[in-house]
This record gives sequence, C-alpha cells and structure tokens, in this order.
Amino acid sequence: MTHAPKPLIARRSGALSGHIRVPGDKSISHRALMLGGVAVGETEIHGLLEGEDVLATAAAMRALGAEIERGADGVWHVWGVGVGGLTEPAQVLDMGNSGTSTRLLAGLLATHPLTAFLTGDGSLVRRPMARVTEPLSRMGASFVARRGERLPLAVIGTDRPVPITYEVPVASAQVKSAVLLAGLNTPGRTTVIERSPTRDYTETMLRHFGAEVRVERADGGGHAISLTGQPELTGRTVQVPGDISSAAFAIVAALIRPDSDLVVERVGMNPRRTGLIDTLIEMGGSIEILNPREEAGEPVADLRVRGSALKGIDVPPERAPSMIDEYPVLAVAAACAEGTTRMLGVGELRVKESDRLAMMADGLAACGARVEAGEETLTVHGTGRPPAGGATVATALDNRIAMSFLVLGLATDAPVAVDDARPIETSFPDFAGLMNGIGARIEDATDTDGAGA
Ligand code: S3P
Repeated sequence: MTHAPKPLIARRSGALSGHIRVPGDKSISHRALMLGGVAVGETEIHGLLEGEDVLATAAAMRALGAEIERGADGVWHVWGVGVGGLTEPAQVLDMGNSGTSTRLLAGLLATHPLTAFLTGDGSLVRRPMARVTEPLSRMGASFVARRGERLPLAVIGTDRPVPITYEVPVASAQVKSAVLLAGLNTPGRTTVIERSPTRDYTETMLRHFGAEVRVERADGGGHAISLTGQPELTGRTVQVPGDISSAAFAIVAALIRPDSDLVVERVGMNPRRTGLIDTLIEMGGSIEILNPREEAGEPVADLRVRGSALKGIDVPPERAPSMIDEYPVLAVAAACAEGTTRMLGVGELRVKESDRLAMMADGLAACGARVEAGEETLTVHGTGRPPAGGATVATALDNRIAMSFLVLGLATDAPVAVDDARPIETSFPDFAGLMNGIGARIEDATDTDGAGA
C-alpha cells in the first residue's frame, strides 16, 4: 500500500450498462498458491486475483521455499516443495490485510518443524486468531501471540503432529481450512465437523491436487470432512472464476440505478457463495442467471442485472455463511429499498477487516439512512428512495466498506466520499476504472473538499 491516503468520491450516475468481468476469486486464488506450493511439480493458475491479499500469500509461500512466477501472459506458475517440505522463513511474514492468508498459513505451518512469525496491518493485528490456534494446538503446534490471541503471532510447528476430530464452533471456512491444511502433513485422518455449510474450496482443491477427502453426514447435523494425511500432491492447472464477492458491487450498483442493464460475465456460482443473489432476487431485484456452466469443476454463469425497485426483507441467519462478505453492500441495497431489511445472525461481521456492523450503521446514518446495529443484527429502514448522501465515510482499512459506500454514492442526491480507497487494492484492483467503464462516476477526491464539494 502507498503511504498517502487516497480519498475517492462517487457522484450520482445514470444507468449502468455493458458487459464486464471482475477479477478472480480471492478464496480460490489463495488456496491455489498454497496447495501448488506443497505439491510436487508445476501448478499453473489462470485468472489468479492479483490483489494485495493474494500477493501476500504468494510472497509468504516464496519465503517458505516454493518457486512462484507470473508469466507475461498473466498465467501464474508454482513449483512446489511437496507435502511437509516447507522451510523456515528467515524473515517475519507480513500478511498485510489478509485474514485468509494468515489463518490458512497458520494451519499449513503448524505441522512443519519450523518457527515462523506472522504479522499484518492495523486491521489484521486486531483480528482474533484463537479460533485457529486452539485446534492447531491440539494437533501439537504452539503459538505465542499478543493478548487476546492477536498478531504478531509466532507459530512453532510440531514435528510430531497428531490427527484430530474438530467441530468448528463458528461457521468459518478459514477455521475448517486451517485444520485441514494442518492435516496434510499429519499421519492418519484429520476430521472437521461443520454444522452449517461454508465455502468448500479447500476440500475441492485438495481432491483436485490428489488428496483423499471424504465428506459424510455428521451425527447431529452438518458434515464431517476428513482428510487422509501425508498424501502426495501433484501440481495441477487451476482456472479461477470471477469473484462473486467483487461482482456484488457492480450488481447492487446496477440494481439501484434505474434503467441499468448490465451483464457480469463468468461469475463463480458455487452454491455456498450465492446467498446475496438469492437475497436480492427476493427483494425484487431483476437478476437473470445466463449460460450456467461448469469450468474446471466450479459452477460459473453470466449475470444480467437490471435497475429494479427493491423492497425490504428479513435475511435469515442460516444464509449468513453463503454471503458473509456481502452484507455491507446488501446494506446499501437495503438503504435504497422500500421497507425494512433485517439481517439476522451476522455477529461475525464484527470481526472482519473492520467491525462491519458498526461501520455500516455509522456510515449509512451519516448519509441520512435510518439504521440500527445490534450485537448480531443489522436493520436498515428504507424509504423507497436512496438516502441523501453528502458524507465522507471512514474506511478503516476495510476494502468492502470502501466499495459499498462508493456504490451508494452512485444513487444519492449528494455525493458520498470515502476517506481512503487504498484498501480496495486488497481484493479488487481497478474497481473504480471498471465501474466507470459501465457509467459510474467515481473520482479522485484529493483536490476537492470531500462529499460537500
Ligand atoms: C474466506 C472465508 C470467510 C470470508 C473471507 C474468505 C475464505 O471468512 O469472510 O473473506 O477464503 O475461507 P470466515 O471463514 O472467517 O467466515
């Protein structure tokens, strides 16, 4: 990230139209680099997200011994060290803003006989790590962290890993993945029980690279996912679809601008990620799923979105894992809808890149919307018209807060500014350029007085 904050301002735009593609899926990109890094032979990754979070994973995997190169054609190549072959990094691993890099790597490293030090930016060092250090300690690793189990974190990997059966206490793909990745270099079977389904890319990709992963119904509900340890993984080709969490911003922007007609192509449609699409359709959004197909084992589709009159609904808590990163932009859609939208069971939003419940409640209120945040809920009272706007919102190192408020500003009478758009680089490089290409008006605000200008 560059040193100076980068304020941006969004002004009310006309209809959004055209065909776009958003950058590659972040979750798949991280996993492709990590598994490529512990496979034998060459892995080729097409469509890797070249955002800062994923680049942090690439840098860490290099520091641990994998060879990683980007070809001139944009295809990434990884030559792995084999399961158990990672070597101790000489330097502290800086994971930047990325919780996924940190938690998944903590898993991978926990069962290697090495010591590694992980740190991150002002957002990441506030995020809880006990959710991974607790199960990984049971497998034999030790950790030294700041109070509250926060970064910087020393991972002291074990040379005598033991397989565990672990029931994940919060719905979290990161925790599930950390334990499974630790299970890679552990003899015997490592099992994770998850009661509510979360994104399953780790399981799918482990199989793709040659591991044996079994998924069975668990007693008492949910699934038991078990991995046979110490497989030989072989380098593979990975095709990364467009990230539905990035597409979400263009989709909501098109819905809230009348007469919009936008096609977002080649969006990853894994059913464990599509909760936002279901929700927006329930709210009356016109979203057509065109040309559904499978690409390299993952469902993808083109989404045609038209400007729509939205109405408020209740979003049930069991839907949260399938749209966990989309609540900020859903709150923007809700602020432009008619009636009340209640987002239930969303307490996890308090421990994302920022406290997203507080950030959305404060920012929307500053823009003139009526909104209440509870411990685990967010309620937005829409009037059928976008709120007034006219505020500058703090982004607190949170990419999705920044993009959500810039989308809101495309619909409000007065513009909406964000104090710092640099965090957008973590997940959606060239967000403003892509949006402006379909008719948005997102501009540099360095030379203006912010939203009042
Ligand atoms: C991710 C899982 C989710 C999500 C994050 C990416 C992943 O986090 O919020 O952006 O790639 O596994 P949790 O597992 O903590 O819910």
